[in-house]
Amino acid sequence: MEQLWTEVEQYFDQVLVKPDAEFANILSASKEAGLPAINVSAAQGKLLELFVRFLGAHRVLEVGTLGGYSTAWLAKSLPRDGYLITLELEPTYAELAQKNLDRFSFPCKIEIKVGDAVQSLQTLHESSEAPFDLIFLDANKAQYCEYLDWSIKLSRTGTMIIADNVVRKGEVINSKSEDPLIQGVRKFNAMVSADKRLQATALQTVGIKGYDGFCVIYVDA
Ligand code: DHB
Ligand code: MG
Repeated sequence: MEQLWTEVEQYFDQVLVKPDAEFANILSASKEAGLPAINVSAAQGKLLELFVRFLGAHRVLEVGTLGGYSTAWLAKSLPRDGYLITLELEPTYAELAQKNLDRFSFPCKIEIKVGDAVQSLQTLHESSEAPFDLIFLDANKAQYCEYLDWSIKLSRTGTMIIADNVVRKGEVINSKSEDPLIQGVRKFNAMVSADKRLQATALQTVGIKGYDGFCVIYVDA
């Protein structure tokens, strides 16, 4: 089925998603630099862009920059007075992401903060950059609970939190999994479930990235 999923996604990329050429440049530069090819797909990136538009978002936070591919989708429709903060652990990834993002001419401000994301989230909480309108979690799945904890502190009523990779080929339902990334996602889902301030759903996706999914959360702070 994977071949069919890929072909259908390519079809929708052509008829609906229609990414600008700069997006493909990010992917080729990332590949050339040896970054893992774990970016969101174009269709998922476009969904992030549309969420920014639906929300009328001005302030966006991303956890996990990689080569800046999802960052670019999140930034694409932010207004001139908008800003996007993206957190990346690996300095070499952040450097490449900066180069990739510099090739676009986004009207909004984009800041890549290099270092441990949990530390950066704590620092953000002490700054005046919050609350964010949209928060996209996509870094180390083993730390999703910590990201969520800080994300809620950086939210207001109405903030949308999206977490990538909550299905992992269906492994999410394997309670005995020894994969710390799976257990991280399972703890994350349990934490979302137990928090009365959060309303959530998860959507399974198939396509170019195989079988995975998003968790989408509404914060009632
Ligand atoms: C992996 C990480 C991701 O964020 C993703 O979207 C797909 C795969 C990974 O670490 O394997
Ligand atoms: Mg991901």
